[in-house]
Amino acid sequence: MPDGKESEKPLASDFGMTAEDLAKEFKEHSVAEFFKKNRQMLGLTGKIKTLCVIVHELVTNSLDACEEAKILPEIEIKVSELGEEYYEIYVRDNGPGLTQDTVGKALGQLLAGTKFHRLIQQRGQQGIGASGITLLSLVTTGKTVQVISGTGKGKAFKCDLTIDPKKNEPKVMNLEEIDKAFKGLAIKAKFKDVKYQKSDQSPLEYLRRTAIANPHAKISFTEPDGTTTIFERSSKDIPKRPIPIQPHPKGVTVDELATMAKYTKSRKVSSFLKEEFDRMGDKAIEEIAKAVDFDLNTDPKKLSWEQAEEIVKQFKKIQFIAPRLDALIPIGEDRIKKSIRSIVEPEFLEVVERKPAVYKGGFPFCVEVGIAFGGNAGKLAGKDEEGKDVWKSEIMRFANRTPLLFDAGGCALTQAVQSIDWKRYAIKDFENSPLTIFLHILSVHIPYTGAGKQAVSNEEEIMEELRLALMDAGRKIYRFIGHQRKEAEKEAKKKMYYKYASEVAVAIAELTGKSKKEIEEKLHAMVLKHLKLEEKKEKEEAEKLNNLTEEEIEKEYEKRKAKEKKEAEKAKPKKKKIIEVENGE
Ligand SMILES: Nc1ncnc2c1ncn2[C@@H]1O[C@H](COP(=O)(O)OP(=O)(O)OP(=O)(O)O)[C@@H](O)[C@H]1O
Ligand SMILES: [Mg+2]
Repeated sequence: MPDGKESEKPLASDFGMTAEDLAKEFKEHSVAEFFKKNRQMLGLTGKIKTLCVIVHELVTNSLDACEEAKILPEIEIKVSELGEEYYEIYVRDNGPGLTQDTVGKALGQLLAGTKFHRLIQQRGQQGIGASGITLLSLVTTGKTVQVISGTGKGKAFKCDLTIDPKKNEPKVMNLEEIDKAFKGLAIKAKFKDVKYQKSDQSPLEYLRRTAIANPHAKISFTEPDGTTTIFERSSKDIPKRPIPIQPHPKGVTVDELATMAKYTKSRKVSSFLKEEFDRMGDKAIEEIAKAVDFDLNTDPKKLSWEQAEEIVKQFKKIQFIAPRLDALIPIGEDRIKKSIRSIVEPEFLEVVERKPAVYKGGFPFCVEVGIAFGGNAGKLAGKDEEGKDVWKSEIMRFANRTPLLFDAGGCALTQAVQSIDWKRYAIKDFENSPLTIFLHILSVHIPYTGAGKQAVSNEEEIMEELRLALMDAGRKIYRFIGHQRKEAEKEAKKKMYYKYASEVAVAIAELTGKSKKEIEEKLHAMVLKHLKLEEKKEKEEAEKLNNLTEEEIEKEYEKRKAKEKKEAEKAKPKKKKIIEVENGE
C-alpha cells in the first residue's frame, strides 16, 4: 500500500470472541485435574509442609481404619532420602486392610471413600487424602504407588497403583497374591520437590503429637538419617468406636435436604423426614404438614426446590431437642493427663473436659483442654545471659485426635488462646513461659477452613466452649503459680533471716561473751517459729483462694494490680522533693 497502512489490517484478536468461538474452547475437566493444578488446596504447598502432610494423610487413614476395626494400632513410618529433594515414604499399619476390589477407588480416585457421607467423629471426612497423595507422587515423579494389603481372610496381595487425572479413575497394575502372612495396609510412594527437616513442623513433631492424642497407638518412625523413634502406647484401651449420627434438622441446608430426598428409599416425604433426620418426632411432622402448602404424603423424589425451601423454613421455627451427643468419644481427662505427663513431665497439669455442645445449630462437638506448666512443658528456646534455660509457650492443636501443625494464625483454637488475658491467671508473660496448652476439638464434622484440614473455622459456639475451658484451667494454674511464688518468697525470706541471724550472733557474742553458736541456734529457732506463724496465716489464705469464684479472682487480680502500681510509684525517685531541698539550700 502506498501510505504503508498494511499493518492496520484488522487481526482476529482485535475482534471479541463469539459464542461459537467460545463453544470450541469449552472442555470438561475432572476433579483430579482440578487438584493437579490446585494442589495448594489439599495443603500440599511448601517442600517441608508437603512432606509432613503426606505422612499426616497416610497416618490418619491408618488410625481411622484401626479404630473402625477395633484394633490397637501399630503403625510404622519410614522416610528415606533418594536424592536431592527426592524421598520415599513408607507407611504400614495393622488395620483391616483393603480388598482387591476397593484398593483402586480408595487410593486412586479423588472424592471416594467411606467417610464423606456419614456424620461420624473420624479423622478423615472428604475422600481426597490418600488419592491426593497418589496424584502427587504421579505428578512429581511419574511413578506408581506400591501397595500391599491383607484383610486376614484369604491371601494378601500386592499391586502398583496410580490415578488417571483426566478421568479421575484408578489404574491398578501388577496385582498378584502373595504367600507372606500380612495383615493391614502398607503403602510405599516416591515424591520429588519435598524436603525433610527437623523442625516444629516436621513429621517427627507431628507423630509426637499424634502419640499424645492417641495414647492407644504404637508408632515407630525412622528418619532419613536412620534414627528410629518409637512412641510406645500408654494405654491399652481401644477407644470406643464412634457411631454415625443422622443430620439434625437445625443444621441442614435446602440443597442437602433436596439431595437427600432424591436418594431416599422412603416413599413419602413424611417418612423420609422421620427416618433420615435426628430428633424428628410425630409432633414435628404434624407441625410441618400444617405449615407447608403441599401434601407430605407425596413421593420425596418429586420434591421441588421450593418445597424443600418451605420445609427448611419450618425446621428453623420448630423447637427440636438438641442433637444426640453420645456420638462423640473424647480422649478423656485421665488419658490426656497420662500422655502429657509421659511426654512433657510438667510440674503442674490440669485438664478440663467440657460437655458436648452444638455449633451452627446442627453439629455436635466437644472440647478438651489441658494446661501443663514447668518441667519440660513449652519449647526450650536457648539460654539467657546467666546460662539459665529460656522457655517459650507452645500451643498444641488437635481435631478428632489429629495434630494440626500448620495455619495456626487462622485457626479458632489458636485464636481462643490469644483471646484470654493470661495475666489474670498469674501468667505475666504468656509467650515466654514454660507452658504447653493442649486443645482438642472433636466433632462429627469439623468445620475446617479449607480442604487441607489444618485450621478450624471461627464458629461462635466453638470459640465460647474453648474459652470457658481455658478459663477454667486458668483458674487452677492461678492457684498453683500463686502457691509456687509464695514458696519461693518464703525460702528467700528464710535465707535472709539466717544470714542476719549469723551476723547478729557474732555481735551479741562479742558484747556478752557468750557462745556464738548457742546464740545463733536460738536465733534460728526464733526465725523458724516466725516463719511457721506466717505459714499458718498463708494456709488460711490459700484455703480462701481455693474457694474463690471467678468474680473474686478478678477482684483479687485488680487488687494485686493496684498494689503493684502503688509499689512501683513508691519505688520511683521523688524528683520534686530533691529540687525543693536543693532550692532551700
Ligand atoms: N490404611 C487404610 N486401611 C483401610 N482403609 C483405608 C486406609 N486408607 C484409606 N482407606 C480407605 O480409603 C478411603 C479413602 O481415603 P482418603 O484418605 O482418600 O479419604 P478419607 O480418609 O475418607 O477422607 P480425607 O480426604 O478427609 O482424608 C477411606 O475412606 C477408607 O475407606
Ligand atoms: Mg484420609
